[in-house]
Amino acid sequence: MRDYCINGRPAEGIIDLRSDTVTQPTQRMREAMASAPVGDDVYGEDPTVRRLEELAAAKVGKESALFVVSGTQGNACAYLAHTQPGEEVILGQNSHIYGYEVGGLARLGGLMARTIDDSDGIIRPEQVTAALRGPDLHFAPATLVCIENTHNMSGGRVMEPGDIKALADTVHQRGLKLHMDGARVFNAAVALGVPVTELTEPVDSVMFCLSKGLSAPVGSILAGSKEFINRARKFRKLLGGGMRQVGVIAAAGIVALEEMIDRLAEDHQRARRLADGLAQVPGVKVGQTNYRTNILLIDVEGTGLSAPEFSRRLKKVGIWINPKSATTLRAVLHRHIEDSDVDKVIEVFQEIVVGQ
Ligand SMILES: Cc1ncc(COP(=O)(O)O)c(C=O)c1O
Repeated sequence: MRDYCINGRPAEGIIDLRSDTVTQPTQRMREAMASAPVGDDVYGEDPTVRRLEELAAAKVGKESALFVVSGTQGNACAYLAHTQPGEEVILGQNSHIYGYEVGGLARLGGLMARTIDDSDGIIRPEQVTAALRGPDLHFAPATLVCIENTHNMSGGRVMEPGDIKALADTVHQRGLKLHMDGARVFNAAVALGVPVTELTEPVDSVMFCLSKGLSAPVGSILAGSKEFINRARKFRKLLGGGMRQVGVIAAAGIVALEEMIDRLAEDHQRARRLADGLAQVPGVKVGQTNYRTNILLIDVEGTGLSAPEFSRRLKKVGIWINPKSATTLRAVLHRHIEDSDVDKVIEVFQEIVVGQ
């Protein structure tokens, strides 16, 4: 396989649309990392981590925040801190927490998952009400609901502030907590053109990733009340996430929050350009969404090729797009993708379809 990165930049000729996690740290991040003041963060003595956590908490309008290794670890700390083993968590059947976090709910939390239909990226109050089974002696008590914004597997769909508020009201009236897997919550806020606090205010906790479209090399944030974050901090330690002079990494996270949010709009605009172009290719259908963020689901069934085969043909010419199912590819726009790359991808799709 060809080296993907050369001198910290994506290799010439490869258009990598597998994920926004492939983004490289910016020059400003590298400089901030090199000069970050640090200390032992397990003793709470790393000034750069503290700065990041304060900045992050303020950004999403919460009392406190915790710097964690990954989105998966942040979500795990959240469900561990919100629940007791033997309880039930209500969440989408296509959600990342349920499907792509190694069964941590069961393995780490001793939790039952009660899944509901989130195929359009949204969980509605009536679905939660229907999923709640009440206090009968036989039932595991449900204590937590999780939502995902933007919603990865439905093509980056956005859950809007009004829908989150309505859900939170129902969840709270029934005495449960609401956690948001907001790995890409800044994409949602930018797409809507609202402050991210409009999305995060109604939820009890939110996790978001610094390492995806925001381009930091490592790390995510979990935010919530002081008391919740104190509990989550203990679970982070349990999971082996107590890091020492980790300000060297947190420094990049500060740059991510200060400089990299607004530019997500460019990724969304290129996602639209790609969606519009691919829609003209015979047999190709691009999934509709309420707002175009940075993820596209591309149905290639009508081309006569399976998605894995389509993906293989794209890869031969340096375009990396993963299949999501037998019929659908998932493309993710990010900082290293230019307009000319988008045009090239559209052209190659045309060639593959016409040439087979
Ligand atoms: C919606 C969502 N949540 C959580 C995660 C987990 O993040 P990480 O890869 O940092 O563990 C991802 C990663 O792709 C994601 O897309």
